[in-house]
Amino acid sequence: MRRYEGRRVLVTGAGSGIGQGIALRLLDEGAQLVAADIDAAGLAATADKAGDVGDRLRTVEVNIADPVSVQAATGDALEFLGGLDVLVNAAGILRPARTHEMPLEVWNQVITVNLTGTFLVTQCALPALIDSGHGVVVNLSSTAAFQAAPYLAAYAASKGGVNSFTHAIALEYAKQGLRAVNIVPAGITSGITTTSILDQPEGVDYSLFARLTGWLNGGALGSPEDIAGVVAMVASEDGRYITGTEIRVDGGALM
Ligand SMILES: NC(=O)c1ccc[n+]([C@@H]2O[C@H](COP(=O)([O-])OP(=O)(O)OC[C@H]3O[C@@H](n4cnc5c(N)ncnc54)[C@H](O)[C@@H]3O)[C@@H](O)[C@H]2O)c1
Repeated sequence: MRRYEGRRVLVTGAGSGIGQGIALRLLDEGAQLVAADIDAAGLAATADKAGDVGDRLRTVEVNIADPVSVQAATGDALEFLGGLDVLVNAAGILRPARTHEMPLEVWNQVITVNLTGTFLVTQCALPALIDSGHGVVVNLSSTAAFQAAPYLAAYAASKGGVNSFTHAIALEYAKQGLRAVNIVPAGITSGITTTSILDQPEGVDYSLFARLTGWLNGGALGSPEDIAGVVAMVASEDGRYITGTEIRVDGGALM
């Protein structure tokens, strides 16, 4: 399938895990794409995995928590792409902590990257998405926003905020042809699951984390490709009647 021929795409968090999987899938379907991330080595790995895609790929370093960095990076991206049809906000962090011990700094970091960062990138991209007449914003939420997630109070709150933010812009810009959708993953192999979740604070009850993974594959983790295929559908013409909603891709974690 080449549903993205001639379509211009910006993916944040494209240096690892789900964002990388989405970038590679959309490139595979013909997109002209900017892969953005704070991690230069991750971006190099993404470019390496993409292989020979000619001049359809540009990598851009960005810290989505910093408005100046976001403005510079989106400016570079829009100049390279010459406009924008699809924005995927996949950059995110997870910092588990027992809530009564969570330093304010950790709370602020998680909310600033996951929620404010999603807002900042979207805000810079919106004029170009509106100009395209059929812009799509895909935001990465989490099952943690819907189901109690121990030690993830900041993360869950940030993703609940992302859900509401997505609904608000879906309605606000529907008349300009913009669609906005939350993808709700759980238990996907990535930097977050291999480092952040396993790097638990002392005294944590690990059994509570079983709720964060799906039931398919005997409880084994899903892959970034499992998310990427759904994002590719939702952000293409095949998803043209989907907006202001959540799509769960969680192996049944929320059943
Ligand atoms: N893996 C899962 O099971 C799962 C479940 C639910 C939701 N999610 C969400 O999916 C998204 C992708 O996460 P992932 O699981 O692939 O993890 P990941 O750690 O593999 O990827 C996250 C990427 O975001 C980048 N990033 C972090 N802070 C940034 C910043 N300030 N500016 C720019 N880039 C930054 C990282 O460098 C990394 O490349 C996140 O929003 C995450 O919350 C993941």
